[in-house]
Amino acid sequence: MVKTYISNIKNLLDPEENPILLKDIWNSRKEKILSHKTPSGRKQSLGSALLLQKILLQNNLKSNDIKIGKNGKPEIEGICFNLSHSDEYVICSTSEKPLGCDIEKIRQVKKGFETRFFTEREVLYLNQFREDKLNQFFRLWTMKESYMKMTGEGMTLALNRFEFSFDNEIKVYRDGILCNCFIKEYEIPNYKISVCSEDFIFADEIEIINLF
Ligand SMILES: CC(C)(COP(=O)(O)OP(=O)(O)OC[C@H]1O[C@@H](n2cnc3c(N)ncnc32)[C@H](O)[C@@H]1OP(=O)(O)O)[C@@H](O)C(=O)NCCC(=O)NCCS
Repeated sequence: MVKTYISNIKNLLDPEENPILLKDIWNSRKEKILSHKTPSGRKQSLGSALLLQKILLQNNLKSNDIKIGKNGKPEIEGICFNLSHSDEYVICSTSEKPLGCDIEKIRQVKKGFETRFFTEREVLYLNQFREDKLNQFFRLWTMKESYMKMTGEGMTLALNRFEFSFDNEIKVYRDGILCNCFIKEYEIPNYKISVCSEDFIFADEIEIINLF
C-alpha cells in the first residue's frame, strides 16, 4: 500500500543557528542541509530528513543505509520512498513499489505559464477552467512531478514526453503509450499533493506526523 505522511515545519528552527537539531541526522544529510543558502531551504531539508527517519525507524530501517541513486533520487533497500517539500510542509510517501510524490503551495503564476510546462492536450484541459484554473494548474503540476519522481528521471525527462488525460479516470501516456501507474491526490488547504505509483492501493488519508 502507498502511504503518505505530512509534517508542518513552520516552527522548526534554522539548523544553522541550532546545530543541536542535526545531532541524530545521518552524516551526508547534515552537509546537504547546511549547504542550503536560505533558512527555509535548511528547514525543509532538515524537516524531510526527520520525517523520513521516523518512517524508516517504524520499518526497522536505518537512515545511514540511504544511497543517492541515478539523477539524485534517494533510495534504501527494503522500502520505496520519496520526499517533497513546499513552503511550510514536508511529505514522504512509501510503498513496496516505485513511487514519487509532490507537494506545491498554490501561488500566482504568470499568464500563459502553462504552455511552458504542459502539452497541448493538457493546456486544452486547463483552459476549460476559469476561476479554478490556478488550482487545476498546480494539480497537474504535482501530478507531472510525481510521475517524474516515480521513474527517478526528474529533470532529465522532457515534460512533453508524457501527458495526463482526465476522461473518466486519470491516465498517464508516455510517448503515446499508456503507463502502468496510478495517481492519488490529498487535500491540504492552499496546497496540492499528488502521489504516483505502480502500486494501485493508496491510503485514503494522509497521515500527520509531529516532528517535535
Ligand atoms: C529534483 C526534482 C526531482 C524535484 O524537485 P522539486 O519539485 O523542486 O522538489 P521536491 O520538494 O518535490 O522534491 C525534492 C526531493 O525529491 C527527491 N529527489 C531528488 N532527485 C530525485 C529524482 N531524480 N527522482 C525522484 N526524487 C528525487 C529528493 O529527496 C528531494 O528532497 P531532498 O533534496 O530534501 O532529499 C526535479 O524533478 C525538479 O527539479 N523538477 C522540476 C521540473 C519542472 O520544471 N516541473 C514543472 C512542473 S511539471
